[in-house]
Amino acid sequence: MNTLTVPAKEGHLVLGSSEDALTVCVLDDEQSMVEMLQESLRCLGFNSIGTSDPQHALDMVDQGRVRVVMSDIKMPGMDGLQFLEQALHHDPGVYVILMTGYYSLDNAIAAIKRGAYDYIPKPVDRSRLKKSLDELSDSFRRRKRIRNLESQLLNDQEFHGIVGRSPAMIEVFEMVRKVARHYTNILLIGATGVGKELIAKSIHQMSPVSQQRFAVCNCSAMVDTLLESQLFGHMRGSFTGATDTRPGLFEYANGGAVFLDEVGETSLPMQAKLLRVIQNREIQRVGSPEVRKVDVRLIAATNRDLRAEVLAGRFREDLFYRLSTIQIRVPSLSERLDDIPLLIQYFLKKYNDAYSKQIQGLTRRAQAVLLQHGWPGNVRELENVISCACLTSVNEFIDVDDLPENLQKPSGRDGNSKDTWRPLPLEEIRRQHIRRVLDACEGNRVRAAQLLGIGRTSLYRFLKRSEKKPVGTTPV
Ligand SMILES: Nc1ncnc2c1ncn2[C@@H]1O[C@H](COP(=O)(O)OP(=O)(O)OP(=O)(O)O)[C@@H](O)[C@H]1O
Ligand SMILES: [Mg+2]
Repeated sequence: MNTLTVPAKEGHLVLGSSEDALTVCVLDDEQSMVEMLQESLRCLGFNSIGTSDPQHALDMVDQGRVRVVMSDIKMPGMDGLQFLEQALHHDPGVYVILMTGYYSLDNAIAAIKRGAYDYIPKPVDRSRLKKSLDELSDSFRRRKRIRNLESQLLNDQEFHGIVGRSPAMIEVFEMVRKVARHYTNILLIGATGVGKELIAKSIHQMSPVSQQRFAVCNCSAMVDTLLESQLFGHMRGSFTGATDTRPGLFEYANGGAVFLDEVGETSLPMQAKLLRVIQNREIQRVGSPEVRKVDVRLIAATNRDLRAEVLAGRFREDLFYRLSTIQIRVPSLSERLDDIPLLIQYFLKKYNDAYSKQIQGLTRRAQAVLLQHGWPGNVRELENVISCACLTSVNEFIDVDDLPENLQKPSGRDGNSKDTWRPLPLEEIRRQHIRRVLDACEGNRVRAAQLLGIGRTSLYRFLKRSEKKPVGTTPV
């Protein structure tokens, strides 16, 4: 599926880090046996930690202190097979070598099927042990090489801090490269969290005015009067609270670029004012008759279908045409699944650094869950999932348990797979869908309403009613 998936044997997505010398934990209820095996390991050139307490060994696995455990099978309290199961549960990346005085081929196969790395007879033959541990060291070395290659790949596939290698994203990068030098207005289209703001920044960085300012304005976050004063500035006393005269973002970024996020949310009167900036590069501070010239490049972004908004009479056609002379559509994450493993690595590295953690990667089953998810919140949602898992995971590898609950029971990309399909009332589906979108938007109701294509007031009304009434009976 992708070249980043690491050796089939481990099946984990791993992240580059320094490879420690192999440290082996020796677990045996007989202290003399522990000491003897530790001596053998020392002679073979391996570090070791010995214990007779299975719980102590599990704690070391949990803390990531050991990645290989040699465990006796017959022990009071917890036997070797129970230990194997527990150890793999704690850290699916751990290697357990079982040792037994009652060796049989059938038992060996059964143990390996249950996840043991090897099954060796007692008394332990030194050359047999050496062979097994050498193979394991080789496998670690191979993993390290792969990790280095992967970090290299990650560096190569980062475009101004934007990670992507899918054909759809490469097309976006090429377009950005082509237009960044020459644009005056650009329209970025794409769903929430796809990376429009990152792309806008990269356009500015590659433009001839990259040394000048890049100002960001979220047009949906403010009422008209505030937005106008934010963009155009105001004169002292021009409205209640205007205690001083202030320039707006267009003046602030004069010579550089202004990023108008969520431009589709602006009112018609505000659109008329924006049109004037685009056509004449002129602005007027609120409360001032003076017309000022500005020389700014404009990057606008929207997650709405602006053409449909024009048809519905909610967006000025002339502004739409002016804004969209150059359009770049940023694809949703579900349209570029190839990018997911690379993004996971990127965010793992970012949050390992941020939280001073040393998480190596994801287990194969956790990767599978992430690849099956529909990602309504796109890259932002993926970033949140990885950051949260990095923070909470106590193991070397992030596993399914570390993922949010809604991902642990994936409902399939269409949220409607055969296995989980139930004949739910429409109201219930609506409720679940609204909840999922709200989760994806981290509870941001304005953004959720935009994604759902309903007005904010309808969403507020729905939430209010669903708080009051039992689930499934809410008329919306
Ligand atoms: N390709 C990518 N590589 C790395 N990080 C990314 C990528 N795409 C998005 N992100 C990260 O995801 C988050 C959301 O990205 P961004 O704010 O640019 O999305 P957006 O399209 O502007 O969303 P919205 O429409 O909700 O404003 C940010 O933290 C950003 O750094
Ligand atoms: Mg944005």
